[in-house]
Amino acid sequence: MYDAGKIITGLVIFVGIVTYPIWGSLGGSVNMPEPVVNKSGTCVESAEYMRANHMQILDEWRDSVVRDNDRVYTSQQYGTKFDKSLSTTGKTSCTSCHSNKEEFCDACHDYTAVAPYCWECHIEPKEEI
Ligand code: HEC
Ligand code: HEC
Ligand code: HEC
Repeated sequence: MYDAGKIITGLVIFVGIVTYPIWGSLGGSVNMPEPVVNKSGTCVESAEYMRANHMQILDEWRDSVVRDNDRVYTSQQYGTKFDKSLSTTGKTSCTSCHSNKEEFCDACHDYTAVAPYCWECHIEPKEEI
């Protein structure tokens, strides 16, 4: 009548597929998306530093520009100079290098459910891929 072997095999496969997302997160692996960097060169600071601290850098930049009109940032790690700018075009703003906002900023932010409100005022980069 019923083919118990096939049913059991089917069940095992079904349970496997349904619980696959759970297995993926076992062993502490976090499936953070790889943000796509579409430019060569160096960032304001090292990638590790930026990953952890870009929010503070942006905060500091905004305050020093708006309050003190201090518009130049010297990289602590590389000694290079940058315009303190989130999105001004044509200068060394974040988005002049990271113009692929969707694949870069948004890839991480969507994953971590952060939604910076900056783009209500600051111009989003035109995606160039
Ligand atoms: C001159 C071009 C340039 C500018 C300006 C720039 N970046 Fe970067 N950024 C890069 C490059 C190139 C990398 C990849 C560096 C690496 O992998 O070593 C990077 C890496 C990063 C990372 C780490 C990504 C990862 O792999 O996890 C973050 C976050 C980041 N940038 C944010 C910013 C922010 C925010 C600003 C503005 C405050 C900014 N960047 C300005 C070129 C730039
Ligand atoms: C490697 C992943 C990653 C990349 C790439 C990245 N971010 Fe973030 N960003 C985060 C995380 C995670 C947080 C939340 C940190 C926290 O809450 O402490 C954050 C927070 C922020 C905040 C603060 C938001 C708030 O409401 O507190 C700003 C502003 C910001 N990011 C701007 C940018 C910009 C602009 C870019 C692209 C140039 C960018 N980020 C790229 C991971 C990333
Ligand atoms: C209500 C509108 C508004 C919002 C929202 C806003 N900004 Fe700004 N921001 C401004 C204005 C206006 C200036 C002044 C521009 C200037 O003097 O160059 C500025 C300047 C800045 C500057 C320095 C100059 C430049 O060209 O980038 C930075 C950096 C900055 N903001 C970052 C942020 C970040 C990060 C967020 C989100 C966490 C944010 N801002 C949200 C209006 C806004």
